[in-house]
Amino acid sequence: MNKTPIAFVTGAAQGIGLAIAKRLAHDGFHVVAMDRQADVLHAALQPLTQQGLVVSAAVADVCDRDSVHQAMQTHPRVDVMVCAAGIYNDARFLDLTELAFTQMLQVNVVGTFIPAQEAARRMVAGGRIVTISSRGALGGTRFAHYVASKSAVIGLTRAMAMELRDKEIAVNSVAPGFTDTPMTRSAPPEMFAQWEALEPRGKAASPDEIAHAVSFLASPQTHFITGQTLFVDGGKSLGGLSI
Ligand SMILES: NC(=O)c1ccc[n+]([C@@H]2O[C@H](COP(=O)([O-])OP(=O)(O)OC[C@H]3O[C@@H](n4cnc5c(N)ncnc54)[C@H](O)[C@@H]3O)[C@@H](O)[C@H]2O)c1
Repeated sequence: MNKTPIAFVTGAAQGIGLAIAKRLAHDGFHVVAMDRQADVLHAALQPLTQQGLVVSAAVADVCDRDSVHQAMQTHPRVDVMVCAAGIYNDARFLDLTELAFTQMLQVNVVGTFIPAQEAARRMVAGGRIVTISSRGALGGTRFAHYVASKSAVIGLTRAMAMELRDKEIAVNSVAPGFTDTPMTRSAPPEMFAQWEALEPRGKAASPDEIAHAVSFLASPQTHFITGQTLFVDGGKSLGGLSI
């Protein structure tokens, strides 16, 4: 019987999700990389398989139950589910529309709920779910809808952890700070530079730094940690200025 543990990672075609997929494959998982961008996903996974890592692609929209269900049917077991798919866009609070607000909640919250629930239904004791929230959950300007969505992810993580602890499934969240990915690089370069300047060390995190925290929470030794949010942000969440 094949005992290679199976890890699903959503949003794995690029950025943080891709770094997590790569890291978990190096950790010995068979990684099923899920994303809605089929071409980008297949191109991203090619170098990994060439390195001998065990990764397969699953094209799915995390907001669509049937699509996620179908993608997961190919694997009878799930040991780890990482929900990294997400979107971001800027809007001042006074200009925010219901459409922009609900789209943000749909992808970031419902798109975490569906794969997490599908995974939990297939997991046995020892299973792990890791959500990706954000330091932005603590607040910020010009992205109230994103703040609301990521606060909801933290709440959902805690609620899932409570309901799933009897099944011995641990559920935690990693809250990245500003990270260098296609998402943040899609901003004008001067805005990227302004954001970087606000970071404690004056530069963005690398996706690998975020992936390392996910790898820790997915490892067998951390089964007693559940319902927690691990901020990986160089200390920016500590706030305040000091002398
Ligand atoms: N980059 C940052 O500074 C930062 C900071 C904190 C949190 N995050 C969070 O980390 C996660 C990854 O962010 P990133 O910067 O790598 O973003 P990214 O845009 O570079 O990658 C996100 C991936 O998610 C996929 N995706 C989006 N919607 C999807 C859907 N409905 N179904 C399937 N796949 C979908 C995209 O196709 C893309 O491949 C997101 O949840 C984001 O909110 C990012």
